[in-house]
Amino acid sequence: MRIVSTVEELRSALPTNQTIGFVPTMGYLHEGHMSLVENARRENDVVVMSIFVNPTQFGPNEDLDRYPRDFERDEKLAREAGVDVLFYPTTETMYPLDMARVTVRHGADVLCGASRPGHFDGVLTIVSKLFNLVQPTRAYFGLKDAQQVALIEGYVRDYFVPVEIRRCPIIREETGLAKSSRNVYLSDVETVEASRIFSALTMAREALDAGQQVDEVKRQLTERLNEIPNSQIDYVELVDYPTLGAVSSDSTELLLAVAIQFERARLIDNVIWKKG
Ligand code: PAJ
Repeated sequence: MRIVSTVEELRSALPTNQTIGFVPTMGYLHEGHMSLVENARRENDVVVMSIFVNPTQFGPNEDLDRYPRDFERDEKLAREAGVDVLFYPTTETMYPLDMARVTVRHGADVLCGASRPGHFDGVLTIVSKLFNLVQPTRAYFGLKDAQQVALIEGYVRDYFVPVEIRRCPIIREETGLAKSSRNVYLSDVETVEASRIFSALTMAREALDAGQQVDEVKRQLTERLNEIPNSQIDYVELVDYPTLGAVSSDSTELLLAVAIQFERARLIDNVIWKKG
């Protein structure tokens, strides 16, 4: 595995006539990230991973400074998983002038976008820069961040970016808790309580299967999430996927998405429900 941190080093490490699978991350790797690498490995000649805690996707009162970091451990995990090129740039490398940024027009006013203004502009800005640098054949994103995937797919279509976006399933603990770098902020008790998020989402999906109305499903889901002690609901939403617009009778895929604030960690989770 080659570790590169400058644009020049990255360019010289990239192959010319082989397919490239790209896995962008912010590090503090776990099985969720590694599942993206496995998919990339299977479908491409070369796997490139980036590790960069992107400042422009964090709000002024968010956890940029305390976002968990452990490059030595990440490097070992990436090597063992078969990453060929690990790109680990500095902020100066990724934002040489910071003169231009990408802005989202639709789909950033709901879910995480509503509670994190500017977050998805930051995500699309960094993803755009990384795509231009790596020029991947395919790029791998987890459905853990379903809104992020939908907006990246929209960006790729709008800007005619020559890359195939691959959606990958959410990797969970045995308890159902979705794996996340931020789970380290949870206390032992909160870790147990947080597994109720997925049970509540599963029950909501079953209620939709049983033909219950969206509003009623949302009401029951909210009620169950409200029962989780020492936590607060940030949002509970059912939206059309991947448009992120309101559910209508034409909707064939619904995203049931929630964000729950614990004492030190804000957790997000979701399930996608397909009609029929
Ligand atoms: P990060 O949170 O490090 O996540 C990197 C990738 O791993 C994302 O595509 C995310 O959806 C995926 N992922 C995280 N947890 C997962 C899980 N439990 N199961 C499956 N996939 C999971 O998302 C970002 O970084 C950043 O916004 C980034 C796209 C790198 C831009 O800065």
